[in-house]
Amino acid sequence: MYPTLTPRTLTPAAKPTFYFIGVTTGHSSIRRVFPAWADALGLGDVEMMGIDVAIHADAADYRSVVTFIKNDPLSLGALVTTHKIDIFDAAHDLFDEIDPLATLMHEISCISKSDGRLCASAKDPISSGHALDAFIPEGHFARTGAELCVFGAGGSAIAIDWYLSQPARGADRPARVTVTNRSQPRLDALRAIHEQSAPDVPLRLVLAGSASDNDAVLAELPPQSVVINATGLGKDAPGSPLSDEALFPEGALAWDLNYRGDLVFLDQAEAQRAGRGVEPVDGWIYFIHGWTQVIAEVFHIDIPPSGERFDELVAIAAASR
Ligand SMILES: NC(=O)c1ccc[n+]([C@@H]2O[C@H](COP(=O)([O-])OP(=O)(O)OC[C@H]3O[C@@H](n4cnc5c(N)ncnc54)[C@H](OP(=O)(O)O)[C@@H]3O)[C@@H](O)[C@H]2O)c1
Repeated sequence: MYPTLTPRTLTPAAKPTFYFIGVTTGHSSIRRVFPAWADALGLGDVEMMGIDVAIHADAADYRSVVTFIKNDPLSLGALVTTHKIDIFDAAHDLFDEIDPLATLMHEISCISKSDGRLCASAKDPISSGHALDAFIPEGHFARTGAELCVFGAGGSAIAIDWYLSQPARGADRPARVTVTNRSQPRLDALRAIHEQSAPDVPLRLVLAGSASDNDAVLAELPPQSVVINATGLGKDAPGSPLSDEALFPEGALAWDLNYRGDLVFLDQAEAQRAGRGVEPVDGWIYFIHGWTQVIAEVFHIDIPPSGERFDELVAIAAASR
């Protein structure tokens, strides 16, 4: 368990510092990985520090964290998990610049500084895109007519839908996108963004209160569809959005956004690998892309999403995992 700060214990940094704003940041493997990456990337004498904030904290807490980073010269920026939407809502007026994706999605996953200006950006649409490109073959949707199905309608689901449905992909977009969620508001938020960014891709939203609701959605998908567990079930809470009776489409690509936890969803997919050609994929590469995108922005360096340099960072992370 690594030392962490809270909105009440923020103190000016003694050396250049990069923050990780989350809930229980002292437990994350990034605390081991970052120092090794900093060496490899030549970031110099830089520290990583976690700031733990309670889920759905008061706006004042979010504002004090952003104001602290803004005013402390040695505080370089931060990666934000969990609180991306709350930070946007509570503190967007404190930023000098907000990038177009953060404005569209109402979420901030990266805080950085440029020429004395405090900048907010949304990196999930880019990092989830790189992670999807790593396992979905180019032209997959155009070739197969497959659909996209996402269980859970949170920030990652919005980013994934945006990436795979964007008009720039031409014909290589899902024939239809289905998103399920256990409560309505997140579905409404996802619809609003989908209608702005890709109104021509059919969207089906399903209020799914139980695993059998999700099983029924899964059963309707065409072969080779991309099926994603974006609920956090299997890591943040035990279980899976599906029951053990659920039948994946033939040749489905089954992605769990997480790479640690009991990952029941991936076990369910694995059990149908031999019989139905299902391909399970975990969230490890997503983790790497998420962090490297933010580090590149905060430290003003280029980290390509593939190639020798990227592979080196993957190997370093694997060794410190
Ligand atoms: N590998 C990586 O680096 C990486 C990167 C990003 C995300 N992730 C993981 O992906 C997961 C989703 O991330 P996110 O940022 O999209 O989170 P989020 O914004 O909190 O969204 C989670 C969504 O899942 C739904 N959900 C939560 N618990 C559920 C349950 N027990 N049953 C059914 N639905 C449930 C929530 O529904 P309500 O609206 O009803 O609460 C919410 O819409 C998290 O576990 C996160 O750790 C991993």
